[in-house]
Amino acid sequence: MNLHDSIYLKAAINFLSFNAIQTGMANKKIITVFGATGAQGGGLAHAILKDPESEFAVRAVTRDASSEKAKALAEKGAEVIVVDIDDPVGLRKSLEGAYGAYFVTFFWSHFSAEREMAEAKAMADAAKEAGLKHVIWSTLEDTREYIPLSDDRMPTLMGKYKVPHFDGKGESNKFFTEAGVPTTFLLTSFYYDNFIYFGMGPKKGEDGKLALTLPLGDRKLAMIAAEDIGKCAYGIFKRGEEMAGKTVGIAGGHYSGNEMANALGNAIGQEVGYNKIPPAVYRSFGFPGADDLGNMFQFNHDFADDFNGKRDLTFSKSVNSEMKTFETWLEEYGERIPLG
Ligand SMILES: NC(=O)c1ccc[n+]([C@@H]2O[C@H](COP(=O)([O-])OP(=O)(O)OC[C@H]3O[C@@H](n4cnc5c(N)ncnc54)[C@H](OP(=O)(O)O)[C@@H]3O)[C@@H](O)[C@H]2O)c1
Repeated sequence: MNLHDSIYLKAAINFLSFNAIQTGMANKKIITVFGATGAQGGGLAHAILKDPESEFAVRAVTRDASSEKAKALAEKGAEVIVVDIDDPVGLRKSLEGAYGAYFVTFFWSHFSAEREMAEAKAMADAAKEAGLKHVIWSTLEDTREYIPLSDDRMPTLMGKYKVPHFDGKGESNKFFTEAGVPTTFLLTSFYYDNFIYFGMGPKKGEDGKLALTLPLGDRKLAMIAAEDIGKCAYGIFKRGEEMAGKTVGIAGGHYSGNEMANALGNAIGQEVGYNKIPPAVYRSFGFPGADDLGNMFQFNHDFADDFNGKRDLTFSKSVNSEMKTFETWLEEYGERIPLG
């Protein structure tokens, strides 16, 4: 793209965003959506934009307004704002005049729980300063409340975590509470989409047969379509400030490794086995984050009743009537799962 194209593109996006503010957004309560071009925030932004009766307007945060996803949001009526989560000035600007915000952090782009915590603290402080009426913080358990660092059933990682991408989020809950921000703490679940994007799909073994390899034993795992997290968040915003101060968990279903493999097999028309391995073997796979995920699955296994119990299916459906089961998600997305 040359300089002129880029200037015209930016002008067009500004025009669309300005138009959105002038027409649809004027009397609506603005929700600033972080990760609006991603899975969770995208689900929320599109759920609001698809609802012509919505009391809310979307302010979509991205680092790149010229991306296809950002342009699609602007075309549908979102105000697109270019902000990096690590820029405190931009963060404050993103919340000016807003009613609420959806806050999510992005562990897998930097692998640092400390950075997630610094971002969450900055978000909580900025939300307080902006006087937001309702915030949703996308969080997970601090697994050290279940498995202290002294418990050697799994290794301690990065010096002070058991499951870094959970623990940093869970520990960050306190920033919202301490700042006195009206926050719903949203416990998310394992995405079905990981079978497409996170390399977790079935792989061919030496016998040529497809199998899912997970260290879950025979326990069930709470799972969800990533987009449904955002749809649930919309339902929670619609319920309003009565949801502030509450911790709620969401899932589309709870599935064992065998149930996942059977559903996958039915969807792709090929037999898929379930290869249950010990967590230590998963940790040794060597890809970036394998130790973190190995510990996560061990936590999911050892505390399955608690973890799944907190992600109640009836509550989830009550805030998102379109909640997808793994089977209904597979009908739509099964073809996209790479079969290694
Ligand atoms: N995979 C799972 O099963 C699972 C389950 C529960 C929770 N989670 C958590 O979900 C989080 C990721 O959320 P997601 O899956 O919705 O993300 P995603 O689909 O990977 O999308 C990433 C989003 O982050 C935005 N982003 C990245 N860095 C940014 C920055 N520095 N400033 C502003 N925006 C930034 C991107 O926006 P632009 O590129 O447009 O700027 C994009 O919208 C992770 O922390 C992960 O631990 C994952």
